[in-house]
Parts: sequence; structure tokens; C-alpha cells
Amino acid sequence: MLGKPTINDFVALKGQRKIVCLTAYSAPMAKVLDPHCDLLLVGDSVGMVVYGMDNTQNVDINTMIRHGQAVMRRRKSALVVIDLPSGSYETSPEQALVSANEVITKTGADAVKLEGGADFAPHVKCLVESGIPVLGHIGLLPQRTVAGKNFRITGRTPDEVSQLHIDSDALADAGVFGVVMEGIVEPVAASIAKLSKVLTIGIGASAACDGQILVTDDMLGLYDAFTPKFVRKFTNLQDEISRAVECYCAAVIDGSFPSKDHLFFNKKDSASSKAAK
Ligand code: KIV
Repeated sequence: MLGKPTINDFVALKGQRKIVCLTAYSAPMAKVLDPHCDLLLVGDSVGMVVYGMDNTQNVDINTMIRHGQAVMRRRKSALVVIDLPSGSYETSPEQALVSANEVITKTGADAVKLEGGADFAPHVKCLVESGIPVLGHIGLLPQRTVAGKNFRITGRTPDEVSQLHIDSDALADAGVFGVVMEGIVEPVAASIAKLSKVLTIGIGASAACDGQILVTDDMLGLYDAFTPKFVRKFTNLQDEISRAVECYCAAVIDGSFPSKDHLFFNKKDSASSKAAK
């Protein structure tokens, strides 16, 4: 996508080509990812990935706003969506609207995401009717896991299958422009993706989804506290960083860093040092 993104342009990608989404929490990462991605999610996974928390449940709205502002400073063409954190929207549609308004006003992001299915259709409807685009999130809901447990794949029982279809339809009817489907058994995710009238973005769901999302730090090999089965590490930046830091240590210890190139001299000294070269 070229230029400032719009929800309409994004939605028009459905059926045209696969949609590429990743998480971003910082300005430098947004700068690198923006040219490659259709959507950057400022996910509340920031709590685990950046702050070392055990789950996403204690991330607050100010944290989401600060990281959203950082990402927005470097995004050029990708759609930016910010997670409404746990505790900021569940109570009522009105609470969701106050939080979503704050996030959008303070960051300038394009949309918010919230976790939950049919129970949250009234919240979604309220936001959409107030002009705030919403991305849904069904299946495995990290905000609802208990004490970091229950990272459980869904869609294994008939009840779960029918609930997932109900959730997907209710969110679409409430006006989401797309839905993230996380941790859902493949045939069920594929069937929802096929039937859904809105964009489907998979993470541990199905290649039949309209697009895919991963936590960037997972796919770069930067986060290793826990690696879900659905992650492919496309590189191992931890190893790369370790190698670079080893080189830095060696250079500091053997005195080859800093060299003259990295130091400051008076003009006279630098002229004489150049002449001496
Ligand atoms: O917070 C997050 O990073 C997410 C993705 C896993 C979809 O919600």
C-alpha cells in the first residue's frame, strides 16, 4: 500500500492477495516494518515482550498510548491498530468508547482491537457507530487466560465450534472490519475464514485466512520466554545480538575501540593527525 492507509483500501485487499501483519511497539521497529506490512498492531503483548510480564492482563491504557505514539511517529503506509488493554473496555460499551476515544485521539492510530466474541458485539457496535474502526479477536484470548495459563487452542468440541461461528458472525454484524483468529484448530478456522464476510487474520489458525499476524519479537527470535507452536522463527536476532556484543567486548578489552574515528579532537590536532596519516 502507498500513502496514508485507509480502512477501505485495507478491506479491499480481501480476495486480492494475502495480507501481511506484524506487531510493533517502538518507533525504530515501526520504521523497519512499515514498508513490508499492510497492518502494524500495537499489541498488548508488549507487556510480555518488552516489560517481561507473565501475561497481558496488567498492561494499562497509558502504556498502549505511549507505544502507539512511538509507532505512529514512524509509520508511513501501514494501517496502525492499537489493542484496548484488559480492564479498559469490558464493563460496558460506554467504557469501551471512552477508552477507544482516548487511544485514537492521543495516538492518531487508525483503529482499535478488542478481545472477545458475541458478548462484545454491543461494545463493537457502539465504537463503530461513533466512527472508530474495530478489529475483533476470537479464539484464544490472552487477556482472559488465568495466571498465564489456559493458552489453550479452541475449536476442538462441537460447542466450541458453534461458539466460534457465533462469535465471528456477531462481530461481523456489529461492524468490525476484520477479525484476528488465534489458536483455533485448522479446519474450523478455515471454515470460518471461508464463510466470513469480513477480513480474517490468522495466528495459529489457518493458511486459508485472508492474512497472517505474528508477534514480531517471536518471528525474529528475540523473545524466548515461551514459543507457541504457531511461531516460525525467521531469524535468530538473539544470537546476532550476542555475536555483536561479543565483538564489542573484545574491542573494548583489547583497546581497539574507541579508535580515533570515534573520538573528538581540536581542529589543530585533527589536522596534524591527518597529516601524520
Ligand atoms: O497482543 C498481540 O500481540 C496480539 C496478537 C497476538 C494478535 O493480540
